[in-house]
Amino acid sequence: MIRHLLRDDDLSPDEQLEVLDLAERLKRDRFAARSLEGPQSVAVIFDKSSTRTRVSFHVAISELGGSPLIFTTASSQLGGKETPQDTARVLERMVEAIVWRTYAQEGLEDMARGTRIPVVNGLSDDFHPCQVLADLLTIREHHGGTAGRTLAFVGDGRSNMGHSYLLGGATAGMHVRVAAPAGYAPREDVVADATAIAARTGGSVEVGESIDELVRGADVVVTDTWVSMGLEDEKQQRIADFAGCKVTDATMALAGPQAIFLHCLPADRGFEVDASVIDGPQSAIWDEAENRLHAQKALLVWLLARSRGEELPTA
Ligand code: CP
Ligand code: NVA
Repeated sequence: MIRHLLRDDDLSPDEQLEVLDLAERLKRDRFAARSLEGPQSVAVIFDKSSTRTRVSFHVAISELGGSPLIFTTASSQLGGKETPQDTARVLERMVEAIVWRTYAQEGLEDMARGTRIPVVNGLSDDFHPCQVLADLLTIREHHGGTAGRTLAFVGDGRSNMGHSYLLGGATAGMHVRVAAPAGYAPREDVVADATAIAARTGGSVEVGESIDELVRGADVVVTDTWVSMGLEDEKQQRIADFAGCKVTDATMALAGPQAIFLHCLPADRGFEVDASVIDGPQSAIWDEAENRLHAQKALLVWLLARSRGEELPTA
């Protein structure tokens, strides 16, 4: 069966653990897996801007022995003249996997429907599962594991990051708390899915408006931009709506000295987070950014092995 990562819960708890274990191994030994030896190619397509996703996939594919084929939608036929499904039918004849950063989740689902190669969500309006894999790896490194730890997300609960922390965190057995202003709570179906996953993994889900209540005692405090890509027209309204929805030194003090601070980046210092926090001693953002490489390399190895019916590389 061809395996995709379109949203975080496409990996079961056991599968997510396999990917994260592999990521830890590949971080120690960067060239241990050669799943794309040939070189075989992976297409990485961008409808939206990127620094981390572009560079980390390029390096990951290269270090697996492969050849990254990176292009923008604007410079291709996808979007305007050609459907995601037709694009995938062509690419699957030439490349081993497709990573796509896009707007609507439905486009990714169309692309994945019936393809013979894995499709990876490199960020959509609704989910950013590659980022959450990197964050979980970072949490393991700093806290010794994920199960039973508490992650508090402060910000736009309806955003890709809000949704992915709910699904990915619950899959990892975490207690996921989302503090969002009125009107920006996560989608109800995502909360329901995360709650159902948490019931199986021993995690839990809590959504509310009070930052103080929700960050208290958290092991991980995380935020993201108030204005996600594609929502630039709403910027002024969002700056007004999110006023006060910020991670400050006082927020970190409520969480406690054990808490780490994460941010997927890019960050707007002074808006969703104060510089003293993101550049301060509890911040693990550079580890988090580096872990995009290791997590995505492991993800590609895992998806290719499972889709090809091969064993995972052993240590
Ligand atoms: N965090 C993240 O996905 O960064 P880029 O937009 O730079 O890829
Ligand atoms: N929520 C942000 C994440 C950027 C990596 C956005 O979609 O712009």
